[in-house]
Amino acid sequence: MTVSLNICVVGGSGMLGSYLIPYLRGLGHRVFCFSRKCRVGDDNVLVNTDSDRSLGNALDTCQPSIILNLAALTDVDLCERDPHQAYLCNVGVVERLSRWVTKNSSCHLVQVSTDHNYDQEGPQSELDIKIKNYYGFSKYAGELAAMSVGATVLRTNFFGKSLCTGRQSFSDWSYNALARRDKISVFEDIFFSPLSMLSLSECIERVIYNPIPGVFNLGSRKGLSKADFVFKLAHVFDFETDNVSKVLYRDQNFSTPRPSDMRMDSTRFELAYYPGGLPTLEKEINLIVGEYSNEGR
Ligand SMILES: NC(=O)c1ccc[n+]([C@@H]2O[C@H](COP(=O)([O-])OP(=O)(O)OC[C@H]3O[C@@H](n4cnc5c(N)ncnc54)[C@H](OP(=O)(O)O)[C@@H]3O)[C@@H](O)[C@H]2O)c1
Repeated sequence: MTVSLNICVVGGSGMLGSYLIPYLRGLGHRVFCFSRKCRVGDDNVLVNTDSDRSLGNALDTCQPSIILNLAALTDVDLCERDPHQAYLCNVGVVERLSRWVTKNSSCHLVQVSTDHNYDQEGPQSELDIKIKNYYGFSKYAGELAAMSVGATVLRTNFFGKSLCTGRQSFSDWSYNALARRDKISVFEDIFFSPLSMLSLSECIERVIYNPIPGVFNLGSRKGLSKADFVFKLAHVFDFETDNVSKVLYRDQNFSTPRPSDMRMDSTRFELAYYPGGLPTLEKEINLIVGEYSNEGR
């Protein structure tokens, strides 16, 4: 029989939280969704994450054995324009959670971070940090704050059908554009190794049962370019690709610099939690087919 845990998911109203919270509740855990704007009730807790007192009081009431921190300012351009706001969320919230964990040592912090910290030739190990922009920098600083209390830091990226109103995943964007036959350009020189939100949720489940301090890459095996991801997605859904053009990121003129290779080597995570080996990105694309299958095709 599995043990039921008290879990607080901070920033739980976002894209990953909207998928993960029902998943964890389905396993029988008591999961509190901490959000600055939720309707209170059903274990949804209105919390001002910018306030030590508001966050501390809510945590005192819920008495979690696990805090999963998903709160983040994930808009890369906004982080670049407003580094202070990025710092307040991507670092300040983690510092606040770490202070509470210091006083409540039976609670373990799981900090969700990003593959945005990499930009060398993949697959990259946990030590191959290369920071390109303020989003990456603030997430990395948040990791350091979490590590000060022996947290488990999961560097990841994910896709799948978003259950969060107003938030689109990369597969949502690709699927919708392909379904509408929009003209789109996809980068053949940006590489990544995301997991589906389903597999990521299963991995997080393993972590919360046996939290090990340290930094872990958590991505699919092999990875693909963003262009190949879109073409594979088109193939599994039998969409035409004549309106899809492959372009080079390095020829574009973005104001915010972005990493071009974020592929991760997740061996460390596999050895600790997933001895059978994490799935390849191609397998992960096949896994999400069912999530989109009721879309009137
Ligand atoms: N999305 C991706 O593709 C991706 C890729 C790699 C890694 N990640 C990481 O995965 C985690 C979850 O990502 P996500 O896409 O689910 O995040 P998200 O939807 O962008 O945001 C998660 C939540 O963070 C809270 N938040 C946003 N701005 C805030 C601020 N200034 N101060 C305090 N809280 C704030 C919001 O909750 P409330 O407004 O309800 O408080 C929001 O719902 C993050 O740590 C992110 O860095 C995401």
